[in-house]
Amino acid sequence: MHILGVDIGGSGIKGAIVNTQTGRLITDRQRIATPQPATPKAVASVLAQLVRYFQWSGPVGCGFPAAVHHGVARTAANISSEFIGTDIDRLFSEAAGCTCFNVNDADAAGLAEMRFGEGAGQNGVVLLITIGTGLGTVLFTEGKLLPNTELGHLYLESGQKSEHFASDAVRKSEGLGWKQWGKRFNEYLAMMESLFWPDLIILGGGASKKFAKFEEKILVDAQVRPAAFLNQAGIVGAALFAEQRIHAADS
Ligand code: BGC
Repeated sequence: MHILGVDIGGSGIKGAIVNTQTGRLITDRQRIATPQPATPKAVASVLAQLVRYFQWSGPVGCGFPAAVHHGVARTAANISSEFIGTDIDRLFSEAAGCTCFNVNDADAAGLAEMRFGEGAGQNGVVLLITIGTGLGTVLFTEGKLLPNTELGHLYLESGQKSEHFASDAVRKSEGLGWKQWGKRFNEYLAMMESLFWPDLIILGGGASKKFAKFEEKILVDAQVRPAAFLNQAGIVGAALFAEQRIHAADS
C-alpha cells in the first residue's frame, strides 16, 4: 500500500509517500518549518500544504509529538497547549481533505524500526528513544507496543526533567559538545535501564545520525544502536500505523 507518512516535529513537518510493504520512501522527503506558535490551525494548514505538494488523495499517517489517545491529543510539551483535547484525526482530515490517522511520533518511529529496522526479529524488551526537540520514547515487549509512554518527562535524580536536560534542542541551546551531551544522555539511559531493563535501546531522531560522536560516553549494559531509518523512522512508521488502522477497520 502507498501512504503519505508525515512526521510532525517541534521544528519541522516532514512528509514522503511510503511503500508500506518495503518501508521505503517512494518520493523525496519534503520538509516545511513548523509554524510558530504551532497552533492546531497553523499545523493543520501546513499538513494541507504537504498533501497538496504530493497531489495526494489517499490515506495519511501522522506522527504527532504528544500522547495521542484514540485520535485526540492529550499532552503538548513542544507544541501549542491549544492541542490538548483536540481531535486531531478529525481536524487534520478536514484540513487535508484526506483521512488522517495520528499516532505518537516515537511510537511511529518504533513501528518502523521493529518491522524493517534495528528491532526486526528482536525479542525481549526494546526501548526506542527519539532525540529531537523533546525526548520521545516507545517500549516493546516481544514485539508488542505499549503506546504513549512519555518517559522523556521523567525526572532525573538531580531533579531535572529528562528532556529539559538531554534533548537535542538542549544540546544546541546550551552549545554542548557531543561528548558533553553524550554524558548527559548516558545519565538518562542509565535511569531507563534501572527502570525497564531493556535488551536493546534504539536511538532515533536528529541526534541518531551523530551516534559515532557520542557513542564512547554511552556506558549502559543494554545494546545501544542508532535507528536503521535514522530520523526517517517517524515518516515510515506513521504510514505503517495508518495501514494498521485501515486493516483493523476492514476486519
Ligand atoms: C512529547 C512526546 C513526544 C516527544 C518527542 C515529548 O515532549 O511529550 O509525546 O513523543 O516529545 O517528540
